[in-house]
Amino acid sequence: MKVLVIGGGGREHVLAHKLNQSELVDQVYAIPGNAAMETVAEVHGEIVETAHDEIVKFAAENGVEWAVVGPEQPLTEGLGDKLREAGVKVFGPGAAAAQIEGSKAFAKHIMEKYGIPTAEYVEVDSKTEALKYVEDCKIPVVLKKDGLAAGKGVIIAMTREEAKDGVEILYPEEEGKVVFEEFLEGEEYSVMTFVNGDYAVPFDTIAQDHKRAYDGDKGPNTGGMGAYCPVPHISQDVLKRTNEEIAQPIAKAMQQEGYPFFGVLYIGAILTEEGPKVIEFNARFGDPEAQVLLTRMESDLMQHILDLEARQPIEFKWKDEAVAGVMLASKGYPGAYEKGVKVSGFNLDGSTFVSGLKKEGDDYVTSGGRVILVIGEGKTVKEAKAEAYKKADAIESDGLFYRRDICDKAIKHEQ
Ligand code: AMP
Ligand code: GLY
Repeated sequence: MKVLVIGGGGREHVLAHKLNQSELVDQVYAIPGNAAMETVAEVHGEIVETAHDEIVKFAAENGVEWAVVGPEQPLTEGLGDKLREAGVKVFGPGAAAAQIEGSKAFAKHIMEKYGIPTAEYVEVDSKTEALKYVEDCKIPVVLKKDGLAAGKGVIIAMTREEAKDGVEILYPEEEGKVVFEEFLEGEEYSVMTFVNGDYAVPFDTIAQDHKRAYDGDKGPNTGGMGAYCPVPHISQDVLKRTNEEIAQPIAKAMQQEGYPFFGVLYIGAILTEEGPKVIEFNARFGDPEAQVLLTRMESDLMQHILDLEARQPIEFKWKDEAVAGVMLASKGYPGAYEKGVKVSGFNLDGSTFVSGLKKEGDDYVTSGGRVILVIGEGKTVKEAKAEAYKKADAIESDGLFYRRDICDKAIKHEQ
């Protein structure tokens, strides 16, 4: 069959790579894809992600059976609905169900209604209300802007001053919705869950992302600076609870509310003293979680998608090895950064996944904030980390930086 991957980042790179390995798949197309994906897909960079009609036309003309949509934006904007209307099967929810990611307020309401454990929250609709709220709210407090923000619309205020500054940042004008959340403490982990209506099957191996820009979880929030799997210090018992208390009830709740979900639901969870709680839901694979999880996945992703569609049992198989991924990002990210800086010293052999590089002649130059994720595998997380950093250190460029402590939370527990 022919499969179309939508998106042009590292997550889509690994999706194309993995689907290309499937015996069920004859041809992978990518829109817009990126230059590094050309070894695993036919890349159509001339079509942009937002050109929904063109994408539907491409799918029809090329006999695409399945579309796998990587990023949140086309999902929340209804690309999944359009493709489905045209008879293309889509791994990814329609716009209504994608609100679980697109609107923090929507996600909070549904969790509250169905008793799904998450941080206590208050929703405000204007800057005046927000400023009033921070006058005497409990500190620390977390501020979240409603709507998509690529991991950057969240401010964690450790002091009242920071909370007030946060309101100024999230409110360039008087109008707008912001959710204030109780600050939760604990280990964060990401659980990818295959969902078809009320049928939910979480991956039985999980990943841990590193959201802050700098070592020691310092600096601003980013889309993710590195990830690894499995996470040996989060027990199977915690995963069982996450499934029973979060994954199963949210799938049923979405179905019951009239927003049946089809695709992968990302549960961003935190292990508090009271147990697992939801930090966020995403309507798609995590990036860079997908790169490490799908590298570790031995079984056939396309087969799993078909099994999900048919509500058959899904039996994921994983390599014994641990997998670590280190993100090399443009200096300055998540703020302003230079583009067009040359990058060399990497192989496109399935051990690197590219999110922000383009071809200029024979060279690769930077074209985005997050640039390239290097993968290491090893018997332990510690060995996987060492492998990944060997590759990261071999990459030559004046324009990149990366964290040095990806995996350290697990390694502390391995010793
Ligand atoms: P989000 O976009 O909602 O995933 O938030 C980005 C990051 O901010 C999360 O990965 C957490 O590290 C942090 N964060 C979000 N909400 C909370 C919370 N209620 N308590 C503590 N940290 C949080
Ligand atoms: N790595 C976090 C995310 O994809 O949202």
